[in-house]
Amino acid sequence: MSQEKIKVLFVCLGNICRSPSAEGVFLHYIEHEGLAERFEIDSAGTSAHHEGERADSRMRAHAARRGYDLLSLSRPLRYEDFFHYDYIIGMDEANRRTLLERAPTEEAAGKISILTDWAPNPLRDHVPDPYYGGSEGFELVLDLIEYCCPYLVGKMIKG
Ligand code: 4NP
Repeated sequence: MSQEKIKVLFVCLGNICRSPSAEGVFLHYIEHEGLAERFEIDSAGTSAHHEGERADSRMRAHAARRGYDLLSLSRPLRYEDFFHYDYIIGMDEANRRTLLERAPTEEAAGKISILTDWAPNPLRDHVPDPYYGGSEGFELVLDLIEYCCPYLVGKMIKG
């Protein structure tokens, strides 16, 4: 019998910088670990402002330098996401607040975390929005995501 997939949704504000990167890095990591079959992953934005757009070109360029191809198209968070996904993982406290406000049930609220909750002593306690800053912000996004992803996978697989 095939195992139920672990369903993970990464969320940020625009779904063009941080959450597409989390999706891309996480996917790369689980493929490398031979665990891709165990997961279903996607990303979404709390805002619909960039709906249909590819990831920000600066974010894609920084990710490509580390070997990640960011392919997702921005889409807004949907009501059904709170039922479909097992884990809903934001990037900062504003994302967490918005997710908690929109969670339709207690059970859905219990699925919400932010990425840096998962790892011990991350460089920052959230993944800062890089949109209005320079290249170091995009590098920090990738540093934080790369650091946290193995902890996510470890904890999710062990249950
Ligand atoms: P993201 O970054 O939430 O990591 O996708 C942002 C993208 C767009 C905007 C802000 C943050 N914006 O203001 O348009």
